Amino acid sequence: MPDPVPPDPTTSRGSHAMTTTSNGTPAIEFRDVVKRFGDNVVLDKLNFSVAKGDRVTLIGPSGSGKTTILRLLMTLEEANGGLILIDGDPYTHEYKGDRWVEIPEKRRRVVRNRVGMVFQQFNLFPNMSVLENIIEAPVHVLGLSKKDAVERAEQLLEQVGMSDKRDARCTQLSGGQQQRVAIARALAMDPEILLLDEVTSALDPEIVADVLGVLREIARTTDITMLLVTHEMQFAREVSNRVLMFDHGQIVEEADPETMFTNPSHERTQEFLKAVLG
Ligand SMILES: Nc1ncnc2c1ncn2[C@@H]1O[C@H](COP(=O)(O)OP(=O)(O)O)[C@@H](O)[C@H]1O
Ligand SMILES: [Mg+2]
Repeated sequence: MPDPVPPDPTTSRGSHAMTTTSNGTPAIEFRDVVKRFGDNVVLDKLNFSVAKGDRVTLIGPSGSGKTTILRLLMTLEEANGGLILIDGDPYTHEYKGDRWVEIPEKRRRVVRNRVGMVFQQFNLFPNMSVLENIIEAPVHVLGLSKKDAVERAEQLLEQVGMSDKRDARCTQLSGGQQQRVAIARALAMDPEILLLDEVTSALDPEIVADVLGVLREIARTTDITMLLVTHEMQFAREVSNRVLMFDHGQIVEEADPETMFTNPSHERTQEFLKAVLG
């Protein structure tokens, strides 16, 4: 049974981690977002926002709700309450007159197209070639001509060092290669926001550096807003300008990476980092 409509966005909010550019609407905003799986309340009125161009890392123990946050942003999950805004545009509901109405799927898709995601398990289309994986959404969702989509895909394959595998089946690729294709596929949609969910966790250690190198280069050469979940603390430290520590779906601490990784103030963060960093 569906839950009641989201709360009024004008009501006062609790603790609210936030950065915005000086004139800016945040790229991502969560307002009192609630997400439950059955009786399991994963997010309980979560508030946070990410400014345009920010690189924000989410850390925290397994089960703390990090993946759920990213999946909500991709509309792979639906919130039970609250509002999610992309560039100030609500994703699921909006306030019309004096009531909340659901946003039609067509408009929702427009907002969703601004967001790209790379998953831990790559999630490529297994029966397609590398090139077909990359041009699929640009052609069918954005309506690009095949020629333009192929041209762009070739540039991206070059960028991720996979040009020579253009016509290979995805099933013939190693994990690291698949992940580089998955990154190219996400970028092919020209997203304003890139979500990265433990993208190196399923890879052999010697491959991890390659994939991180590709991401580092994207961070250096674009202004894409990034929200990443990673256990690669050195990488998080290099690319992100802000780190949020989650526990039980709540932000327990927010800091710049230097402070978070060398001098966290919250006991829960100290314990977590000690366990992760050894
Ligand atoms: N599809 C699902 N069905 C039921 N429970 C889920 C589902 N996805 C996630 N959960 C639960 O939500 C909680 C948060 O999970 P998740 O967001 O994956 O955490 P994290 O990414 O921080 O490890 C966990 O308790 C998990 O079991
Ligand atoms: Mg996860």
